[in-house]
Amino acid sequence: MEQKPKITVVGSINMDLVTITSQVPQVGETLLGDQFQMNPGGKGANQAVAAARLGAEVRMVGCVGSDRFGADLLEHLQQEGVDVDGVVPVTGSTGTATILVSERDNRIIVVPAANNEVTAAFVEAKREIIADSDLLLLQLEIPLEGVQKAVEIAKENGVTVILNPAPIRSLSTELVRAVDYLTPNEHEQLLLKQERTSQELDGKLIVTKGSQGASFFEGGEELTLPAYPIDVVDTTGAGDAFNAGLAVALSKGANVSEACRYANAVAALATTKLGAQTGMPTAEEVEEFVRSRS
Ligand code: RIB
Repeated sequence: MEQKPKITVVGSINMDLVTITSQVPQVGETLLGDQFQMNPGGKGANQAVAAARLGAEVRMVGCVGSDRFGADLLEHLQQEGVDVDGVVPVTGSTGTATILVSERDNRIIVVPAANNEVTAAFVEAKREIIADSDLLLLQLEIPLEGVQKAVEIAKENGVTVILNPAPIRSLSTELVRAVDYLTPNEHEQLLLKQERTSQELDGKLIVTKGSQGASFFEGGEELTLPAYPIDVVDTTGAGDAFNAGLAVALSKGANVSEACRYANAVAALATTKLGAQTGMPTAEEVEEFVRSRS
């Protein structure tokens, strides 16, 4: 039987408070929305659940609060087959994301709360989990010092690192140098390029472009793999699905081009259902989808 890749996700765990509305209010305006949902979310947890559904052995490192959201999200991760030995309930609130889904786009405000406890010291205490991985997957909804420590541990142990720089923040030269892949969206890429030289980013950038697909760079040339056309219901978590797909494919030995193609299929399927994690496909669903489109 094929060995499952061991992927560790160090990142955020949020409860998504989702309002679906046909119109977004202007300043000072109150509108009646259409629907409200509470869904498991957080870029870290979304990527962990997506990678687990794709067949990886996934360990999550992060924090939830001592409230009901925390208990529910921990149980949910376990039900999804994610190992939560590295997830610690801390005193206080669980992270939340207030999300407005409208016909045109979505808007998100994240309150990190317990995710702020994923400090360098916290991550250091989870050293063994990271060291024993094939690949480390990170985002930026936890303190930068926690991200830096996790990358440092990964590099000391020869673990491949994907950093999804979302939401974008200033990244040090050392951090950029240490990661193997950086996966910004187009907006994040622009900000990244304002601060880091193309030499520093060389060979690391994989840019997600929504309905336009994803790009990577080979010998200085940008190569774009088109997205799979699909009827989109909700794009929340599509980037997370892409990162999980990329992580699973790369850790199984795919090259960047093959991994992006696979990740595009995972991301496309993820947008077909409402909720960040609801549409995350299984490996079989991706296989069937790709076959049906070729
Ligand atoms: O990437 C989507 C995620 O961003 C949501 O699930 C929300 O929790 C925010 O973190």
